Amino acid sequence: MEKFVIEGGKKLSGEIRVSGSKNATLPVLAATLLTDSVCEIRNVPKLRDTMTMCKLLRSLGKTVEISPTKIKISGSANNHVADYKLVSTMRGSFCVLGPLLAKLGKAKVSMPGGCIIGVRPVDLHMKGISALGVKSGFEGGYVLAQASRLKGAQMYLGGTFGSSVLATANVMMAAALAHGETVIESAACEPEIEELGDFLSAMGAKIDGHGTPRIVINGVRKLNGVNYKMGSDRIEAGTFLLMAAATKGDIVVKDANYNHMLALIDKLNSIGVEVNKVGSHDLRIKSRKKLRPANIVTHPHPGFPTDLQAQYMALMAITPGVSLITDRVFPDRFMHIAELNRMGAQIRRDSGSAIVEGVKQLFGAPVMASDLRASAALVIAGLAAKGKTEIHRIYHLDRGYENLDEKLLQIGAKVSREKE
Ligand code: EPZ
Repeated sequence: MEKFVIEGGKKLSGEIRVSGSKNATLPVLAATLLTDSVCEIRNVPKLRDTMTMCKLLRSLGKTVEISPTKIKISGSANNHVADYKLVSTMRGSFCVLGPLLAKLGKAKVSMPGGCIIGVRPVDLHMKGISALGVKSGFEGGYVLAQASRLKGAQMYLGGTFGSSVLATANVMMAAALAHGETVIESAACEPEIEELGDFLSAMGAKIDGHGTPRIVINGVRKLNGVNYKMGSDRIEAGTFLLMAAATKGDIVVKDANYNHMLALIDKLNSIGVEVNKVGSHDLRIKSRKKLRPANIVTHPHPGFPTDLQAQYMALMAITPGVSLITDRVFPDRFMHIAELNRMGAQIRRDSGSAIVEGVKQLFGAPVMASDLRASAALVIAGLAAKGKTEIHRIYHLDRGYENLDEKLLQIGAKVSREKE
């Protein structure tokens, strides 16, 4: 196992480049199961999660060749069983369910289970595929599902906590090869869904409205191969903005999509951080000495993303005054509180919210990464803290941030990756 050692207190400056989007890449890779032709995908971030998805595709019959610039996927899906060993390590792999049903007419996919950020049920996925005529059940920890030919249908996919990103993705992919028209009402509007829709369209799918709450898909008999470049990761870009804000830095974030990040940028502007567009692809952020605290409530897109809640909390922890942070998407996503408090933060939990009393300074300490975004919050805290922070179990970070230590070194952070 490896750890990050951070010597805090360095002001970040310079340029940092955002990688391809992890959460857009995972369903896009799954969508390649829908065709027998060759797909070439560029700008795929080399992360533990994207590599796990490649392994899963191989186990389902695809040939996957990984080179430094692209991933080439060929061959045909010929196995309908997505094994527990792979699916249990990453929830994103549950989105092979839709494509397997569309291509093979049956699927046996391990239940992803709960995880550290909450219970994470799959009822909306099941509701969506059953509307398309799929018969399904649960056995031995697996979802067993089958249908001779999927039939388009109208469905409502809203749940207690709003829309579901991966349930929308599963239904879109299944419906792309279904007979007739599918209408998804209360679909997820996340940029990752918009990108999946663009990818499916490039494969020849007839799809409209992706990126809005109403997606209409007219099934086709066959999809083609495609050569496609993934867009940039809005959560990685947002994490870089929050790192600069917390260290009073002045950086340019290259390849950031401004339109995907309005909730965060608006919040940063309101607390005294300057974020401006530079050209069409970059953002410049300058953070002043004194910031104001501000509350956030996470919501599905275009609201403030749950995937930036922990990182924003790290910033509020060092912003004197009180702020209230509420997670409406994953109300239990607060494992980072205890670790931030080990560094001197004053945060307490009150059901689905955290009350943060900002302090002047955090102090370096040994801390434990619990999940991907919680780990990023600890990196932010470590960069801003006085003294040395050791973050253990950084394999969580490697699931979602490509070469984070190398990127941070380029903008003046003092970070090293060391063996435990
Ligand atoms: C995606 O997970 C992302 N993962 C998550 O990113 C992200 O936090 C989440 O969307 C919300 O934006 C990937 O894209 C691989 P949801 P997903 O279904 O699709 C409830 C990260 O850090 N729900 O949109 O699994 C659910 O419990 C990760 O990169 C149901 O009730 O999330 C939650 O409260 C972690 N029934 C809400 O919906 C269901 O069947 C939204 O979850 C499915 C979900």
